[in-house]
Parts: sequence; structure tokens; C-alpha cells
Amino acid sequence: MTYEEALRKLSPAGQEQLLQYYGELTQEQRDRLLEQIAALDLSLLELVEDGVVEPSKGKLEPLGAVTLEQIREKREMFEEKGLEALRACKVGAVLLAGGQGTRLGSDKPKGMLNVGIHRELYLFEQLIRNLMEVVHRADAWVPLLVMTSQKNDRDTKDFFREHDYFGYNPDYVFFFVQDMAPSVSYEGKIYMEDKDRVSASPNGNGGWFSSLAGAGLLGKLKELGVEWLNVFSVDNVLQKIADPVFVGAVLDAGCVCGAKVVSKAGPDEKVGVLCLEDGKPSIVEYYEMTDEIRNSRGQDGRLLYNYGVILNYLFDITTLTRIMNENMPVHIVEKKIPHIDSSGGPVKPEEPNGYKFETLILDMIHMMENCLPFEVDRRKEFAPIKNRTGVDSLDSARELMRENGIEL
Ligand code: UTP
Repeated sequence: MTYEEALRKLSPAGQEQLLQYYGELTQEQRDRLLEQIAALDLSLLELVEDGVVEPSKGKLEPLGAVTLEQIREKREMFEEKGLEALRACKVGAVLLAGGQGTRLGSDKPKGMLNVGIHRELYLFEQLIRNLMEVVHRADAWVPLLVMTSQKNDRDTKDFFREHDYFGYNPDYVFFFVQDMAPSVSYEGKIYMEDKDRVSASPNGNGGWFSSLAGAGLLGKLKELGVEWLNVFSVDNVLQKIADPVFVGAVLDAGCVCGAKVVSKAGPDEKVGVLCLEDGKPSIVEYYEMTDEIRNSRGQDGRLLYNYGVILNYLFDITTLTRIMNENMPVHIVEKKIPHIDSSGGPVKPEEPNGYKFETLILDMIHMMENCLPFEVDRRKEFAPIKNRTGVDSLDSARELMRENGIEL
């Protein structure tokens, strides 16, 4: 893209400030800036004009889950079915590691966090260990796809390499980089991170499949025979990956998708709940529920909207490919965005100063014809590390890890 083309793209959107320092830049910096401007999706900016409006929900109804008790009864059958699929390399795992982990407050990829106390035990390492259990049981490698972002791609790859992939087979590990979205002021002006750099952040975890496809990995998956993808977050240190029992249950139910869920600790627990929206599976966030919905109980005394998601889903690739080009809702999130001011000086805001744009994987569930909620024991499979201390923190995760016999 030339300077003139960039100006023609930016002017109608009132974003010429991105070229403010162009005259001061070296040729290399200019090229880099123009490349970023060419890649910008300016249509997102129209969303800011309406302010932060969350898409509204349709008619909600409760959705039951395959419960722990039911799973116990059919465990062997589910497990055998799942192992058979794993042996045939029909299941791949996708680690979502493109987030910035702002609540944890580290510049490094979240997976590099050392959760050990008397020894080193990194988040990435523990996740690989969890996956290795399945690899041993199935006696087959599970293709592992790792989504990074432009901000942490190099650090993540280096870390895996330096640690010999924590014992995993590197031939079965594939990295891909997610897309970025611009960060804007409350007035809708795109910030600049530096004189030659547009301020942008990872565009949420909803674009994982299109980024994976964009990186050319669908051909590889096909070649390997992969038909299902188990997607999971980087920060739930106890999670089972490519869990044969879960895979078997989804296959047995004939569903195109499954979600691991936990029974809510109480009506006020702040988790997204799997339910039906206009007859299709959907995840409703805590703040989207009315008091009545939040507190309503069935005849057995259980909450009707009882099953919280833990970001561990199994998707059928054929369905993912079909919906790949459908529009997903874009969420506008208020954030603290470091940037440079009009005189080029750095600004590190203490309070939120603008918006970032994100699509979310949980919105994908509503694009599926059906989804099997599969209950798991939260004390055995749910230890997310979002914060340093308190709820969902390094402290709470360590307590649960010890409870599950993991040496720290
Ligand atoms: P979170 O929503 O907890 O975000 O991500 P985060 O970036 O890790 O942490 P905060 O909110 O900034 O503190 C849930 C999962 O989705 C991934 C994260 O890496 C995590 O595994 N994710 C999130 C991405 O891969 N890309 C994104 O753009 C956002």
C-alpha cells in the first residue's frame, strides 16, 4: 500500500492521525506502518458510534446436561468409543493461547507462568502432561494446535522449543497466529502504540477457527484424518484434554458439538450458562440473566440454569467449516490502552481509556445445531488462573492441584 492509498482508506473514516508521524519515519518503518494500515478492518469502528451495546438475547429455556451420575454408569462405553476415535487420529486439540492475561499482569505468555512452589512447573508444561495421559492411554499422538497472537508468538514458540516441547512430539504440534483488531479511544479514533505502530490487540478467542484455516492448517488436519477439535483455554491447569470419555459421549449422542460444564456453585456464581436460546444451544452470561432466570429451580431443587461452561468444547470440523464465514457478534470491551499522545510521548493510563473489539468462542455455540453439555467435577477439572490472588487465582488453582495429587 502506498502513502496515498493509505490516506484514501483512512480519510473517510476520520483516521488520518495514523499517518501523523509518517514524515519522521525511516523507509522500513514506513513500510511496516503501511502494511498495518492495509490490514486494518475499519468496519469495526462503526460499532463504536452506538456505544457499548451488547447484542440482545432471544427466548431462553433451560438445558439439562449428561450428569456425573449418568456418565459414571456409561463411562466404559464412552471411554472405549473415545479411545477408538483417538487411535484413529480423529481428534485434535486446540490450545487457545493468544490472550494477553491482563488480569494476571505479566508481559509474557500466560502459559509461561510457573505454578510450582518447590520446583518449576509451567502452565504449558502441566497442560502437556494432562494431554500426555491420553496419548499414553490411546497409544497415539493427538495433534496439538496452539493459537498465539502477534504479541506472544515468538516467546511461546521459543519456550516450547527451549523445553523440548515438554516431552511432546514436535511433529504433532502446530502453531498459528490469530488476527488483531485496532484499539480505539472513546471517540472512535484508533490509538497509536508508537510512531510507526498502530495500537492493536488480539481480536478475542472467537476467530480461532478462521485463523487456523487462514494459516493453512485445514489441509494438514484432513491429511491426518482429524474430524473433531477439542478447544481449551490456557489457564485451566486441571483440565483434561482430548478426554476420551467426553469424546465418546459426544459421538454416542450424535451431536456436532459438546461442552464440558460444571454445576453452578450457587445462583450468583459469575459463569456463562449453557441453555437454549430460540431453541438452539447458547451460552448466556451471568449479567444477561434476569433475577428470575438466575434463581429459578426445578422440582428436584436444582437450579434450572445450572450448568456453567469452563471453556472446553468439542466441535465437529465439518460444521465449523460450514459456519466459518458467518458473522459473529463483535463485543466492545472497555480497556486501559497504552498509546502515544499527539506530541509522541508515551501514555500509560490508570483507568480505561477506550475500546477493544473481540469475538468470543462462546458465541459459536449458538451457531451449532446442537451441543451436548457434559458435566464434570469442578474440584477435579476446573482450576482457572485468571488473577494473582482470590477467586480463580494462582492460589486457588494451587490448592486444587494439591488436592489432585500434583506436587508443587
Ligand atoms: P480470557 O478471556 O480469560 O482472556 O481468555 P485472557 O487474555 O487470558 O485474560 P485477561 O482477560 O486479559 O485477564 C480465555 C482463553 O482465551 C484465550 C486466552 O489465552 C485463554 O486461553 N484468548 C483470549 C485468545 O486465545 N485470544 C484472545 O484474543 C483472547
